[in-house]
Amino acid sequence: MHSIDWKILERLRAAFLDGSAGQGDYWKSESDLENYDQTFAQRIGWKWDYVLRELKRRGWSPPTGDVLDWGCGTGIASRKFLEHFTGVSRLYLCDRSPLAMKFAARHAGDVEVWQESAPPRSVDVLLISHALTEQPEPFALPCEAKVVIIVEPGTYEVSRRLIALRERLRGEFNVVAPCTHQAPCGMLPAGNERHWCHHFAPTPTEVFMNGDWARFAKLAGIDLRSLPVSYLVLDRRPVPSDGMRVIGRPRVYKAHALVLGCDADGVRERRIEKQTAPELYRQLKKGTADSLWVEKKSP
Ligand SMILES: C[S@@+](CC[C@H](N)C(=O)[O-])C[C@H]1O[C@@H](n2cnc3c(N)ncnc32)[C@H](O)[C@@H]1O
Repeated sequence: MHSIDWKILERLRAAFLDGSAGQGDYWKSESDLENYDQTFAQRIGWKWDYVLRELKRRGWSPPTGDVLDWGCGTGIASRKFLEHFTGVSRLYLCDRSPLAMKFAARHAGDVEVWQESAPPRSVDVLLISHALTEQPEPFALPCEAKVVIIVEPGTYEVSRRLIALRERLRGEFNVVAPCTHQAPCGMLPAGNERHWCHHFAPTPTEVFMNGDWARFAKLAGIDLRSLPVSYLVLDRRPVPSDGMRVIGRPRVYKAHALVLGCDADGVRERRIEKQTAPELYRQLKKGTADSLWVEKKSP
């Protein structure tokens, strides 16, 4: 980070928190975007790294062609997409703010860029990042797409909105992630109201040694060690459906751990005994266990 204007970040944070962000353009200057890009956007970028890595690990790759970063802001979502995947022929940057589109275009790198206040009719890949809370419900996709990747904060409210969107689009698309199945969302049946579909992305370790990040965490009211994310990846092509996804953090006790798992049979708690599954128990305790269990490891 260099020469942060903390006043700008305070104003942006207030707009994100009090709901006024949904009411109109809050990017007042280039400096707003520069300061956002060094802080809020970096954290969002780590979430994209987590989601895109997870997709690659599953052997999934996007179709080649046109990509739209809708509500692009400074363009962190498309920058990350271009870091992880090749085959982008044209990048559309779309935002209600012309300043934001310009900033994102300047930082997009070596790709043909189109800035559009209105989205094209159809694209191959649609990216949406931290823009859902600024939209009225029910949210409709801004254009047709073969693949949709949405990355949002891991809050109860946003997760529940993503679940509603998943249910509306499930007939049209296959669900790639976080779901390991195409069945109705297991969070919806009675009894699961208190849960929400969220995961934790890792924060780069150098961040913990940095005084500016400590100050940012205080200002933003966040814990740098915790980066909750809710996401949804949809694909019109056939996708593999297998295994169980761990939701949130496991609860680890002296001799066992409780894991909330989601698979085609629904969302339910699994009990992992230290004695019968010592390696898995150890990983759960250290926080290194995989969020995707392809072979069901629960007893
Ligand atoms: C919180 S920012 C997120 C920016 C970026 N996607 C990111 O992840 O850092 C939300 C962005 O969505 C844009 N936005 C909100 N509503 C929009 C709409 N209806 N059409 C186009 N852009 C919109 C805002 O101008 C802002 O740049």
